[in-house]
Amino acid sequence: MLERYGHGGDLWTAEEAFGRPRDQFLDFSSNMNPLGPPPAIRGIWMDAWRDVVKYPDPAVRELRHKLAQKYKIEMESILVGNGAAELIDLTARVLKPAVTGLARPSFSEYEEAIHKTGGRIYNIPLRSSHQFELQQPDVEAALSAVDLFFLGHPNNPTGRLLPRHVVESLLESGRSCVLDEAFMDFVPDEQEHSFLKLASTSRKLVVIRSMTKFYSIPGIRLGFMVAHPDLIREIRQQQVQWSVNYLAQRIGTAVLEGEEFELASRHWLQDEKAWLTGQLRQLGLDVVPTDVNFVLFSFPPELGLTIKQAQKHMGQMGILIRDASLFEGLNEQYGRVAIRLREDNERLIEGLRQTVAALAQNRGRTHD
Ligand SMILES: Cc1ncc(COP(=O)(O)O)c(C=O)c1O
Repeated sequence: MLERYGHGGDLWTAEEAFGRPRDQFLDFSSNMNPLGPPPAIRGIWMDAWRDVVKYPDPAVRELRHKLAQKYKIEMESILVGNGAAELIDLTARVLKPAVTGLARPSFSEYEEAIHKTGGRIYNIPLRSSHQFELQQPDVEAALSAVDLFFLGHPNNPTGRLLPRHVVESLLESGRSCVLDEAFMDFVPDEQEHSFLKLASTSRKLVVIRSMTKFYSIPGIRLGFMVAHPDLIREIRQQQVQWSVNYLAQRIGTAVLEGEEFELASRHWLQDEKAWLTGQLRQLGLDVVPTDVNFVLFSFPPELGLTIKQAQKHMGQMGILIRDASLFEGLNEQYGRVAIRLREDNERLIEGLRQTVAALAQNRGRTHD
């Protein structure tokens, strides 16, 4: 199983499973911006080695300052972490909710983090009949049962934003809410949808952001969270000292310079999202409309195919796709693919075309 350690993008496991060097896979199983990383990183990499003899800034001042300027919030409301993954874990440990509402399918680290604190999960179903959009009645039904909502905005693996009125009504109810906005940079009109600014002063709302996806630096590990300064102080006390290394701090600060990369990324995604979702539909797949840089799809039942079969067949061709049936709430027909550059996307579509044809033929034979 390619997701042996819980996530996509595990090229080491792919190498073991398919006997092909890990740099020879085309990876659609993790959702990185194919335009990245921004060019500034190369210079930093060549230069930063001189400073490995020093400790990194324990307060991550330069990067927090840049983030505060970009989002027009106070530095005291920002904590930088070793990837959003660290901040998900820290937030759960400090808030320590007895019962957490998760709208599932969702990113598995929410559940992991809650379980580590001994908390229980309340399942809020995201329904395929509503194209996996969170529904107000399902949130209302959860209100009396949960202390905290932990929600993806946009959500992984569905790619859907939360409806604004649902989040607002949830906050009005007085419940606490953590929004994971790891993929928010990919959303057109991000400012209209993000709750980051509100989180900087609210005592009920926390927003977590990742910098690894949009800037394509998952190997560096970098994310930040925004919350009321009192909560930020409390969470920081639980964070391991120097958790954000020197290289990550410098790279994070550099990628926030200028708007060129952001604009180019938005352009690419707008075109490529339309093209790729159109092609997937032409292959006969059921495609969930997406607000971000990945697409959830399923094989219609009449094709009789499972994602596990397809993942194996594609892996043998050197193309990695995500088995989304491993997400709670999705069946064995569901897969997820990242949106990449056109040439790669064409290879994905051709690979899927061949896979669907080959598996359908095999199935025909076993029924003869
Ligand atoms: C929804 C979501 N949140 C958070 C993360 C973790 O991001 P990071 O690489 O910043 O730890 C991921 C990674 O896949 C993710 O999909």
